[in-house]
Amino acid sequence: MGSSHGGASALVALCFLAELALRGAGAAGEPLVPAIFVFGDSTVDVGNNNFLPGCKADCRANYPLYGVDYPSGEPTGRFSNGYNLADHIARFLGFPESPPAYGSLPLEGIIGQMMSGINFASGGSGLQDVTGKALCGRVHSMSDQLDRFTSVVQMMGNGSYDLASRSLVFISVGSNDLFEYAGGNATLAPTRNDTAFLQGLVASYRSYLQELYAAGARKFSIVSPSLVGCCPTQRFAGWLKNDTDGYGCFGTANNLSRQLYPMVLSMLEDLSLGLDGMNYSICDSAALADSVFNRTVSPMAVLDTGCCGGSGRFGSAKCDKSATLCPNRADYLFWDGFHPTETASAVPALAIFADPGMFVHPINISTLAAL
Ligand SMILES: *[C@@H]1O[C@H](CO)[C@@H](O)[C@H](O)[C@H]1NC(C)=O
Ligand SMILES: *[C@@H]1O[C@H](CO)[C@@H](O)[C@H](O)[C@H]1NC(C)=O
Ligand SMILES: *[C@@H]1O[C@H](CO)[C@@H](O)[C@H](O)[C@H]1NC(C)=O
Ligand SMILES: *[C@@H]1O[C@H](CO)[C@@H](O)[C@H](O)[C@H]1NC(C)=O
Ligand SMILES: *[C@@H]1O[C@H](CO)[C@@H](O)[C@H](O)[C@H]1NC(C)=O
Ligand SMILES: *[C@@H]1O[C@H](CO)[C@@H](O)[C@H](O)[C@H]1NC(C)=O
Ligand SMILES: *[C@@H]1O[C@H](CO)[C@@H](O)[C@H](O)[C@H]1NC(C)=O
Ligand SMILES: *[C@@H]1O[C@H](CO)[C@@H](O)[C@H](O)[C@H]1NC(C)=O
Repeated sequence: MGSSHGGASALVALCFLAELALRGAGAAGEPLVPAIFVFGDSTVDVGNNNFLPGCKADCRANYPLYGVDYPSGEPTGRFSNGYNLADHIARFLGFPESPPAYGSLPLEGIIGQMMSGINFASGGSGLQDVTGKALCGRVHSMSDQLDRFTSVVQMMGNGSYDLASRSLVFISVGSNDLFEYAGGNATLAPTRNDTAFLQGLVASYRSYLQELYAAGARKFSIVSPSLVGCCPTQRFAGWLKNDTDGYGCFGTANNLSRQLYPMVLSMLEDLSLGLDGMNYSICDSAALADSVFNRTVSPMAVLDTGCCGGSGRFGSAKCDKSATLCPNRADYLFWDGFHPTETASAVPALAIFADPGMFVHPINISTLAAL
């Protein structure tokens, strides 16, 4: 009893702090790490797909109404009305926003930019190389993202090793693999053995982390997929399939999110035993999402409908100039059919930064950065 009440109060405090963090400027003074290297999908992409030939428009966010609440009011490629998770994390660590998209950098600027970080993430990508290809045409898979990182590290020579070891590697990936599998692509999942499928994702994750470690990285912040069945497009899918859970979300997809987290956690526990000096922090986004959807606390009033695209069922229509925009963005958990609003993504960001052990294990990144 006492502990669940404590949990709720702590989360209320968390949301309140997230609001403050949003309104305030980035933390003053020296950043807590020299650089941040960001990998993953549209939860953290800041425009890499804008520069990717063959990437379909659905997998880009470089047109209005994306970016309406970004400082410039312009679309940037962020899948948000304003900042996304990578921006919030960067701000908590003392940077103005996420480091820039690798794709946006001139060749001669890449090594200089490495000193304070680069964002390699690509909307639509997943842990598997094949993920995103059907929907997006082309994406930068996790393998591509790591190739880009390791080739810059190699170009930099030995100085990069020390830089990488003191910097934060921030990874948010896996949702797209779950979407595609839950959506039932027979080519991707001929056997429909959930355990085998999830084990395959975790094995890929493990090999990416090993590759980053070999390039010098030591501090890893990992975000497990949220309850992916609750985003508006998946609610719609669950409704069509008559497969809904207690939240009215796509049950199969949420089940996969819940199963994946403990598997990634135990992979990290095991991996860190063998890799000297590796430290990590993992956010249990499924549990954090549970506390939002079960209304233990209700930071946002509207949890089932996208703000931009309100005309489709659950607001799952395309978020473009012709979309209906909700009156108060901060009241909405979702910005479009897949992605959280700027306000909503500040909630996990604050947990990742400062959570005392409810949703982030074994340490938050405030502690990780200071190691
Ligand atoms: C399933 O995925 C494969 C590989 O990406 C793709 O070629 C195929 O078109 C997809 N099928 C459906 C029904 O989405
Ligand atoms: C680079 O650093 C590694 C590990 O510290 C060391 O083994 C290697 O000899 C160094 N290479 C050069 C060219 O200094
Ligand atoms: C599913 O995969 C797991 C892990 O590979 C395996 O142990 C299990 O036997 C498989 N289940 C079925 C029904 O094939
Ligand atoms: C939906 O599923 C429920 C419970 O599994 C079942 O009772 C109901 O008949 C189904 N409805 C349709 C339209 O299939
Ligand atoms: C979700 O998992 C629970 C147990 O883990 C199971 O009882 C339930 O049927 C699953 N639901 C779906 C939609 O797969
Ligand atoms: C950091 O990782 C080392 C092993 O790599 C471990 O012994 C140490 O406890 C970790 N530190 C924290 C604060 O978790
Ligand atoms: C809501 O979810 C949180 C996080 O998983 C959990 O601790 C809490 O017990 C849940 N509350 C209810 C009423 O289900
Ligand atoms: C991070 O976690 C530690 C305990 O692991 C806690 O003492 C601290 O208050 C948390 N937040 C910050 C901002 O350090």
